[in-house]
Amino acid sequence: MKILVIGSGGREHALVWKLSQSPLVKKVYCAPGNAGTLENGENLAIAADDVTRLVRFARENAIDLTVVGPEAPLVAGIVDEFRRQGLVIFGPTAAAAKLEGSKVFTKKLLRKASIPTADFAVFSRFPEAERYIDEGDEQPLVVKADGLASGKGVFVCATRAEAKAAVRTILQERSFGDAGSQVVIEECLVGEEASILAIVDGDTIVPLEVAQDHKRAYDNDLGPNTGGMGAYCPASVVTPEIMDEIVRRILVPTVHTMKVDGCPFSGVLYAGVMLTTGGPRVLEFNVRFGDPEAQPVLMRLKTDLADVLLKAATGRLGELEGLDWDPRPAVCVVMASEGYPGDYKKGHPIYGLDEADALPDVKVFHAGTALKNGEVQNTGGRVLGVTALGNTIAEAKQNAYAAVDRIRWNGGWCRRDISDRAK
Ligand code: AMP
Ligand code: GLY
Repeated sequence: MKILVIGSGGREHALVWKLSQSPLVKKVYCAPGNAGTLENGENLAIAADDVTRLVRFARENAIDLTVVGPEAPLVAGIVDEFRRQGLVIFGPTAAAAKLEGSKVFTKKLLRKASIPTADFAVFSRFPEAERYIDEGDEQPLVVKADGLASGKGVFVCATRAEAKAAVRTILQERSFGDAGSQVVIEECLVGEEASILAIVDGDTIVPLEVAQDHKRAYDNDLGPNTGGMGAYCPASVVTPEIMDEIVRRILVPTVHTMKVDGCPFSGVLYAGVMLTTGGPRVLEFNVRFGDPEAQPVLMRLKTDLADVLLKAATGRLGELEGLDWDPRPAVCVVMASEGYPGDYKKGHPIYGLDEADALPDVKVFHAGTALKNGEVQNTGGRVLGVTALGNTIAEAKQNAYAAVDRIRWNGGWCRRDISDRAK
């Protein structure tokens, strides 16, 4: 089988690495990929959102399965276009990707299907939103732009004034363009967050082992929000009983409602869930593997991923006999460029990668890297996802940081407390 992976981050390197281990797979291409995906496949100079060229490549090279990493091409309809051309692709159609592409769509679906989530209201005009905020109790509120905003469209607000400022930024200043033509204002939930990922084929739901990520930039979960500074799997805060409730009250009714509404969901359904004292509640859906959650999750997966994703893409997930997991926990530490999540300098050579990668039970996944003049350089904010297995979370953490300590580049840094929240 020939596989095409679309994207260029740590998630995509983990996908290429895992897929290339399958006995079913002859070759993995990655568009556009990074310096890590080159180790297990061939990079293509095609952007992740260049649907026309991606389709042409898949047709001309008889690609058997395409796997989409990031959300933007999914929301833009890459799956619909591939299917129109008779190509097999893993991911949701544009209609189903609205679960990530429109928070208004998702909140309305959750309400209709009585799926537990924060109470909310939707506005497209500032005066009505302002009145709603003024008339409600002074309490923390979360204000969200409706559409995709690269993780920057969510504001957790302690006061009415902050909430109004967030609405102004989104609706009036249009800081997120059309993604901000509507806002969701919702109740602020308290609790621990978990990332629930499941492979879905429209009907059948196969949950993956639960992960948690660290979104804040600095130690002790302080500082600005980021794409994720590290993750670990499993997350034992989600007990089997809680997982059962999440499947029953969140995943099953979501997949069922999408099917009944004529936009069956296939791909990765990723529920960001808040574990509140009143039970698990949905914060958001994503329609793809989490990054960096994919790295520790895929490091633990023993089942042939190519077989799983092919079955999901062709509606045959029911034939799968469960998933097989390495019982050992995995921890992924993200190494970032100086300045991230703000501006950062690119082009510094990275040293020690081979030495780190050679350590037992360690895999260094690349994210923002490129091979230039024979050396690996940083090209992004999140540069590497240094991932390790261990007999306990503590041992996996130790192994991951032992590898981190072999790697250096000008300004490269990471949090030192990834997985400390794990129980
Ligand atoms: P979202 O993109 O909707 O997941 O929001 C990004 C992050 O904002 C989440 O991972 C949470 O940390 C936080 N967040 C979103 N919605 C809420 C909420 N209703 N209550 C508390 N925190 C929230
Ligand atoms: N780690 C959060 C995300 O992938 O959206």
